[in-house]
Amino acid sequence: MDNRAIGVFDSGLGGLTAVRRLHEIMPDENIIYFGDTGRVPYGTRGRDTIIKYTRQDIRFLLERDLKAIVVACNTASAAALDTVRGEFDVPIFGTVEPSCEKARQVTKNGRIGVIGTAATVRSDIFVRSLRALDSALTVTTRACPLFVPLVENGRVARGDVVIETVVREYLQPMKDAGVDTLVLGCTHYPLLHDVIADFMGAGVTLVDSGAEAANAVRRAVTPAAHTHGQTQYFVSDDPDSFTQLARLFLQEDVTERAALVDIAAY
Ligand code: DGL
Repeated sequence: MDNRAIGVFDSGLGGLTAVRRLHEIMPDENIIYFGDTGRVPYGTRGRDTIIKYTRQDIRFLLERDLKAIVVACNTASAAALDTVRGEFDVPIFGTVEPSCEKARQVTKNGRIGVIGTAATVRSDIFVRSLRALDSALTVTTRACPLFVPLVENGRVARGDVVIETVVREYLQPMKDAGVDTLVLGCTHYPLLHDVIADFMGAGVTLVDSGAEAANAVRRAVTPAAHTHGQTQYFVSDDPDSFTQLARLFLQEDVTERAALVDIAAY
């Protein structure tokens, strides 16, 4: 048994979709969550900036005794993980590898779509990783830069004309490409699950990258011995908005207010 906590971070709220899955499958674990709400979004930034932010996020989390870190951000996983993984003495789990493995398992026609931020799509990492698993796969990618601000503004429900219009515009090429599997390659996107599923139709399986990262952690780490773990939340700006919006991502109430961190100091 290993009672050390699991650290999780994202540029903001999206990584809570990984925490949600950890709560479901590893309810006894202590979790430390950091959301870099003062510097979100990462997805519009250059690679060097994303690497710098990722290092700072990991240094902050490593002030505690951790058994694993989850980079619950596809943008950071895509742009920074290869560079920073060897710099820290803790197992670090990203979203890309487990999502690609899941997509390869579920596809029947070998046509996989991947949507994400501009930085994630530009990195080409999903295409390379999927092709490394199976060179016969056809991969169609699309950056969806309007999704993160719409999600952060709560525009996620079926019937919302704004999000339905944007989903149609971004995802029509996925339909045209005949994908039967669509990787939600940004941890904000599971909040759009219903609207995306309605548009893509019943024959298309959606892969939740945050949930797949959480599943990978469960397969790899030694579980905790205590029962009912605690989750602590830290942010780099506006703890009240975070605590309010977190409910939407976690599908559960957050009773403790998030604490404020000066992340630039790390
Ligand atoms: N949640 C982040 C991801 O998974 C995207 C948000 C951002 O652009 O910072 O890529």
